Amino acid sequence: MCGIVGYVGVKQAAPILLEGLAKLEYRGYDSAGIAVRDAGNEHVEVVKAKGRLKNLMEMTDSGKAVRGTCGIGHTRWATHGEPSAVNAHPHYSREKRVVVVHNGIIENYQEIKAALQRKGYAFATQTDTEAAALLLDSYYSEAGRSGMAPRERALSAIRDMMIRVRGSYALGILFGDQPGVMYAARKDSPLIVGRCDGELAGHMIASDVPAVLSYTRNVVYIDNLEIACLTQEEMHLYNIDCEEIEKPVVEIRWDAAAAEKEGYEHFMMKEIHEQPRAVRDTLSPRIREEDGAKRVDLSETNLTDEDFAAISRIRLIGCGSAYHVGMAARYVIEQLARVPCDVDLASEFRYRSPILEERELVVIISQSGETADSLAALRLCKESGIRTLAVVNVVSSSIAREADAVMYTWAGPEISVATTKAYSTQLAALYLLAVKLAVVRGQIDEAREQELIEQMLELPDKIERVLSDKERVQWFANKMASCKDVFFIGRGLDYAISLEGSLKLKEISYIHSEAYAAGELKHGTISLIEDGVLVVGVATQPELFEKVVSNMVEVRSRGAYLFGLTTYGQYAIEDTVNFTVYVPRTDALFATSLAVVPLQLLAYYISCAKGLDVDKPRNLAKSVTVE
Ligand code: G6P
Repeated sequence: MCGIVGYVGVKQAAPILLEGLAKLEYRGYDSAGIAVRDAGNEHVEVVKAKGRLKNLMEMTDSGKAVRGTCGIGHTRWATHGEPSAVNAHPHYSREKRVVVVHNGIIENYQEIKAALQRKGYAFATQTDTEAAALLLDSYYSEAGRSGMAPRERALSAIRDMMIRVRGSYALGILFGDQPGVMYAARKDSPLIVGRCDGELAGHMIASDVPAVLSYTRNVVYIDNLEIACLTQEEMHLYNIDCEEIEKPVVEIRWDAAAAEKEGYEHFMMKEIHEQPRAVRDTLSPRIREEDGAKRVDLSETNLTDEDFAAISRIRLIGCGSAYHVGMAARYVIEQLARVPCDVDLASEFRYRSPILEERELVVIISQSGETADSLAALRLCKESGIRTLAVVNVVSSSIAREADAVMYTWAGPEISVATTKAYSTQLAALYLLAVKLAVVRGQIDEAREQELIEQMLELPDKIERVLSDKERVQWFANKMASCKDVFFIGRGLDYAISLEGSLKLKEISYIHSEAYAAGELKHGTISLIEDGVLVVGVATQPELFEKVVSNMVEVRSRGAYLFGLTTYGQYAIEDTVNFTVYVPRTDALFATSLAVVPLQLLAYYISCAKGLDVDKPRNLAKSVTVE
């Protein structure tokens, strides 16, 4: 949700900022702006444009029209104030004495604004960020009166601002009278500093690694309530008391190509195709051979077998698709391990005074590791002394660092707003947890353990097989692109798959869709079924197959057009449905991993057929760092 970037060094900043913003556009894309400072004079030039980044690129001739070697940039997902050039960042005080880009929300901005207005400050925008910029200006003026050196003065102003504001922020800051210096500060929004060597010599700041990866692999992760002061040559880091601190420089191992489309038309399609590799990478390192048998190894969690055996309840928490992973994993964990399992939407969890058990394990599921509600839920659990495990994709993200233990999903960078490979890897990680729990709790015998592990390890190849049949889904999607309402129905795990299929479709094709537990249709929703309404019936669970098919017959007799999704062998479905997609057979508990793929493809191809922006659907952003 909003991306920030900054560069100070020997090169012209604007093209670097624009390239960095292009890599962060997944975080928000309703407007963008840059501020660049030419070392030779006091002038900070600010250019902002409503709409996609390409508008800003055109206005600045791809950055060539804005001269200067120090600058900050922003791509926005509007929270306070409509998307417009005025509300776009950077925001600044009079004469651009303080210029700021911000990812996050200043919660008490109205109170700050009122106080500043009383002091004579005038506001030009409806944003919360402007309050932070002008507050900084006010503290900077105060610090100036006490005769401090420039850096001391800036640090003191930033610290006072951090103490005064409530909410979340990753800030990039320029002071008009400090050429060649860039500051940054963070609380609860991601922020990294990149150290560029060689001909690019300098430093960068960014919300996420892909923005700096063309320039450097050496980054420092800034933590909460820390401040960075950067020049071409120097990086100084401070805590909130303005004491200088040392932090490790981390080398990013994955390469820039991982964040490129590599010949695919969209990131979403590339990421759909990466699922076999991503699922394999998530599963394989955690399966180890021992005495001729395969075992799930979760030693990275620092939980012993005794710890796993003593868990009284599993609580799965996430947002969006991560929540849907929880919905599917609950069936798997409860059936295999017989541990009671709750699934919570992070945004609801903390507002219902949850009753937590001392011996429960809370699993926070998150691709980005930065989702505000998921992070807040994690903190609530930690404050209550409950053990937490993060299933996270982005290494060193806030959730990964704050949880007691972390299982990384090795999906690699996911750029498309609609998640695909992160979903699949989260699911795989939770299968491992389910099998581990089942074994240590004596719920399954050795033969079943081996069978489950084999089935898991075969999933990547089976996903590949589903992908090899994608043209059939494309054909159907082209036929259905003009439909207005779609219902996804299923029972048990198939209901969990339906939830994800429906979300995928609505988020990128803008077609109204809903997922229903098939047995619930008769309690209301069936009244919405009329001639031509598309119903996707998911029937991968053998013991529920007939019941779901009966529900399909019920909607068909009321005019529905039916897409059936089942496993090879269940050919009886063809008597009922208009179009069928089969996925390879696997253990029924793992069917989600295969059945979700045609639904991802359906959403993708419908979005393409409608000519929509698949990777950047309207009103959405990938990383939701506001509540
Ligand atoms: C956004 C994304 C979804 C994602 C959800 C949770 O809505 O578009 O794809 O499932 O946030 O994000 P997280 O990073 O916590 O998995």
